Amino acid sequence: MTHAPLPTARLGAHGPEVGVQGLGCMGMSFGYGPSDARESRATLERALELGVTLYDTADAYGAGDNERFLAPFLAAHRDELVIATKFALSIPPDRPTERVIRNDPPYIRQAVEASLKRLEVDVIDLYYMHRRDVNVPIEETVGVMAELVREGKVKHLGLSEVTAAELRAAHAVHPIAAVQSEWSLFSRDIEAKVVPAAAELGVALVPYSPLGRGFLTGSFARAEELTEGDFRRQQPRFTGENAAANAALLEPVRAVAAAHGASLAQIALAWVQQRAEAHGLPVIPIPGTRRPGRVEENVTAATIRLTEEELGLLDPIAEQVAGGRYADMAFTSAGRE
Ligand SMILES: NC(=O)c1ccc[n+]([C@@H]2O[C@H](COP(=O)([O-])OP(=O)(O)OC[C@H]3O[C@@H](n4cnc5c(N)ncnc54)[C@H](OP(=O)(O)O)[C@@H]3O)[C@@H](O)[C@H]2O)c1
Repeated sequence: MTHAPLPTARLGAHGPEVGVQGLGCMGMSFGYGPSDARESRATLERALELGVTLYDTADAYGAGDNERFLAPFLAAHRDELVIATKFALSIPPDRPTERVIRNDPPYIRQAVEASLKRLEVDVIDLYYMHRRDVNVPIEETVGVMAELVREGKVKHLGLSEVTAAELRAAHAVHPIAAVQSEWSLFSRDIEAKVVPAAAELGVALVPYSPLGRGFLTGSFARAEELTEGDFRRQQPRFTGENAAANAALLEPVRAVAAAHGASLAQIALAWVQQRAEAHGLPVIPIPGTRRPGRVEENVTAATIRLTEEELGLLDPIAEQVAGGRYADMAFTSAGRE
């Protein structure tokens, strides 16, 4: 199948130019049930062929497994792509199933060395703070991240799930290239404060879970359809009455998809990508998939143009969603602002 070249967008004023859609690699090693490593590797390669250049991982995805999994692919294509990873979800040595948020300088220094080693690279292109530890001043956290840039261990800085105030304070210490937060037809809370702040500061937005963790594609309608161990089984939006109510909200998405001869996934991605124009900032969603055919499908979303009338059908969905995007919203930007 031939595809039109994927348009590009810049990550922040000084950051790299990347394909306007990235690839979320988390599910290849963590969270979403069993994966086929061969198919995941083929997905990484197919994405690159199609112009996807921003690859997203984190040290927390499978306690380093996802970074290790990406290493051979990175070695083969180092100059063709931008690798983004994250720190902050530490594993206490005596409680391996728990995660503790840490933003303190000694922890960050240890985390970056471990990620560099697992990814088998000399430098991380985009290094994110994954979650905010409110006990450490953001200036201190970004201060040490900026030192990593000066030392050549990291090229650009990003923040995930920060408030507008935290973003402003961080950006005053060192330019922030990207904010990564959940943003989709089902999750629009960041549009109130975080997105306008990013637009004002010249920071790009990297929406995670732009497919609502798969729910917006219609591929599952309730938690019970997911395999044991899939962490979505615990998410409030996919369980019990919430799941049934939320599945009904997909009707307008189906109608718009039918009008375009497109899939639900493509409409969900076209919608989030088109928010770039509404807010005046670069928006580079990172849908997660482990299947080459789905990358092809998802990339094509960049060519879909939704009309004002269609946006009028899709925009009100988020305010009707039942259940929070996490069981504990304290760790999200919305939970703090
Ligand atoms: N910063 C953070 O706190 C944070 C949090 C969560 C995620 N992330 C990042 O964001 C990335 C994306 O988020 P996500 O994976 O949670 O959610 P997502 O992109 O909204 O959805 C991923 C799910 O959708 C399925 N899918 C993908 N394309 C599809 C298509 N065309 N048709 C049907 N199903 C499709 C995938 O299944 P298959 O894999 O089987 O195709 C997977 O189950 C992650 O990989 C991770 O890198 C960051």
